[in-house]
Amino acid sequence: MIPTGGPPFKPRAGSAALLPFPWYGVPHVAEQTSTVRVALAERSYDIQIGSGNLSGLSAFLRHRSSSGHAVLVTDTTVDGLYADQLGDELAEQQWEVQVLVVEAGEQSKAIEVATELWETMLAEGTDRQSLVLAVGGGVVGDLAGFVAATFARGLEFFQVPTTLLAQVDSSVGGKVGINLPGAKNMVGAFWQPQGVLIDVDVLQTLPAREYRAGLAEVVKYGVILDADFFAYLEDHRDAIQAQDPTALRYVVERCCRLKADVVAADERETTGLRAVLNYGHTFAHALEAAGNYGALLHGEAVAMGMMCAARLAARLGRMDQALVDRQQALLEAWQLPLTLPDYPGEELVNLMYRDKKVAAGQLRFVLPDRLGHVEVVGDVRVDDVLAALQ
Ligand code: NAD
Ligand code: GLY
Repeated sequence: MIPTGGPPFKPRAGSAALLPFPWYGVPHVAEQTSTVRVALAERSYDIQIGSGNLSGLSAFLRHRSSSGHAVLVTDTTVDGLYADQLGDELAEQQWEVQVLVVEAGEQSKAIEVATELWETMLAEGTDRQSLVLAVGGGVVGDLAGFVAATFARGLEFFQVPTTLLAQVDSSVGGKVGINLPGAKNMVGAFWQPQGVLIDVDVLQTLPAREYRAGLAEVVKYGVILDADFFAYLEDHRDAIQAQDPTALRYVVERCCRLKADVVAADERETTGLRAVLNYGHTFAHALEAAGNYGALLHGEAVAMGMMCAARLAARLGRMDQALVDRQQALLEAWQLPLTLPDYPGEELVNLMYRDKKVAAGQLRFVLPDRLGHVEVVGDVRVDDVLAALQ
């Protein structure tokens, strides 16, 4: 069950402030940014990646939107760290800004919270010329994107992802949505942002556990799409763990490039190509649900799920044990938890049947056959799934 309730958010109008950004001491202009383009015809957009480029947000938005009104959605943690100041900065630059703050945590991806956001937006005069700006992790991005997709039949949407997981995965590709009790991401839409601005400097305040959870998704890209990138991760694992800015920017850029190409080829997950991004996720979603979405972080569940998927692939003779071991070594080096919580295997298998990849009553898994290549495999015996959970 996903817990709901509690104070959902506090609306607040942005006000002009003369203070510089506190995390740099002085207003900061990014020295260098790179751009990944997501090629989706009229829905194409840029992902700008840099260090210290948050201060260029107003210009980034103005370049891509004629709106002058931003509904900035954030959570209680990111508000104090970045979003409050960003709202002030936008107001200084002649934006009309409403900052709407939801409780930090997965429980905010709920219909009650979306309803409160819709109602406040209506009361505050949001109209079809307004844009929605998500500033936060994957929870804020998914929720704000869902609200953007649905309010007044759709508003312009921008993302400023502030967790590693959101920077390498959730902010790119347009999947937005909320949870149903026991069924994650079950209600949602494909709603592409019009731009994503990534400043890797904001990761400096991210708790170590959250950073590690994001690294699980990074490993995923190497395994499913890019053997050279996987080798880069192995070679630079200490620098990446230490958040070396050069390594980090390369990692974020490479992950965004890989995801952008998949999304461009299969935006709505109809050909099976985009489904490869769900490597480990059939197991992970079951583990998250079994723990009522409170025991494991999403990335931690993905790390465990990727190990289950790799073991399953080896058991089915699709993949060498040596590659299972390489994946495990990298996840362990980054201190991701790989021992599964003590949930009954049958319970996990039952939860897997709620996965959106289930087709015609058959479980389907994304399984590697070599580093950098995976396939979606149906017709997997429950016995083999249970064995992979050991
Ligand atoms: P999250 O959004 O809950 O953020 C994790 C925690 O870090 C929160 O407490 C947040 O307040 C805090 N935080 C965020 N940025 C911070 C910063 N810079 N410094 C300090 N604290 C910070 O979790 P997440 O891991 O970012 O996202 C998980 C969600 O993303 C899940 O709901 C998952 O389903 C979703 N997701 C979506 C997609 C997609 O394609 N849409 C892909 C993967 C995951
Ligand atoms: N995170 C899976 C996807 O975006 O398709």
